[in-house]
Amino acid sequence: MTQQIQWFPGHMAKTIREIGEQMKLVDFSLEIVDARAPQSTQNPQIMDMISVKPVFLVLNKIDLADPKQVAKFVSKNKNQFAGILTTDAKTGVLSKDFLRQLKVNPIFAKLSEKNAAANLKALVTGTPNVGKSTFINHLAGKNIARTANTPGVTHFLYWIRTRYNLIFLDTPGLLWPKFDDQEVGTKIGILGGIKDTLLASDDLALWLISFLQKNYPTAIATKYKIGHFPLDNPVAALMSITSQLGMRQDFESASQRLINDFRAGKLGRISIDFYGDDYLED
Ligand code: G4P
Repeated sequence: MTQQIQWFPGHMAKTIREIGEQMKLVDFSLEIVDARAPQSTQNPQIMDMISVKPVFLVLNKIDLADPKQVAKFVSKNKNQFAGILTTDAKTGVLSKDFLRQLKVNPIFAKLSEKNAAANLKALVTGTPNVGKSTFINHLAGKNIARTANTPGVTHFLYWIRTRYNLIFLDTPGLLWPKFDDQEVGTKIGILGGIKDTLLASDDLALWLISFLQKNYPTAIATKYKIGHFPLDNPVAALMSITSQLGMRQDFESASQRLINDFRAGKLGRISIDFYGDDYLED
């Protein structure tokens, strides 16, 4: 990808400071990531700060991710976190399912035992568009009450009482100042974590096409009903998709359509943090 994505509005820097100041008030953290890129959507900048308390990684949008890649990620990373949980924040069973996974976790069980008389407090973080608001809304119910933080004044963090014995400290969607690996920026862009207007959609589409041709070689041909699909040439592939969509030379619109179709799961269950196609190692 040719474009350098650098995106870090001022409020994000202030939010990170506030998270550091508030860590002493929470019992644990929930870092929500997109299950299709559970490594790339982790925020490296806050990990040290939040790791002073147990961190549970929540792989949301599990319904859109490739189950085999999710299993590989969990197997490789299970020792890095207090627990790795999976959620589909779009379905009504989220709360029950999420709480069930939390309750069987030994670290969470210990926290509950220690704080039996009080509600547990969790910091909730996530890059934009991973589904953090949908997740919180499910657990908090319809009438979400955001309460300005006490003690101390915060501008960007809010306490939210859930319907269960949990209180969340919600944070705005956070990115970090610079992507050391530009591919991480590209993946976050494809997943909708960076405003589309800041990115060149054809760059994102060409990356996605190359990735799909290599790892999910039938996905595009099936979705767009393209008979002879140029597997080794992303530009030719984008031209085929554009013409198949009846968009003449409008590669920009065809690129955006491809990205939107991917985001909505219309190309199938696909993970873009990809750990190979072999069988899961033990
Ligand atoms: P954010 O706070 O992290 O920025 O994300 P938000 O909850 O606003 O969710 C971003 C989009 O992702 C929303 O779709 C939401 O419905 C969708 N979403 C959230 N969780 C899941 C999930 O587990 N599975 C699936 N498939 N989608 C999920 P949208 O198109 O922006 O809005 P809408 O479709 O809800 O109207």
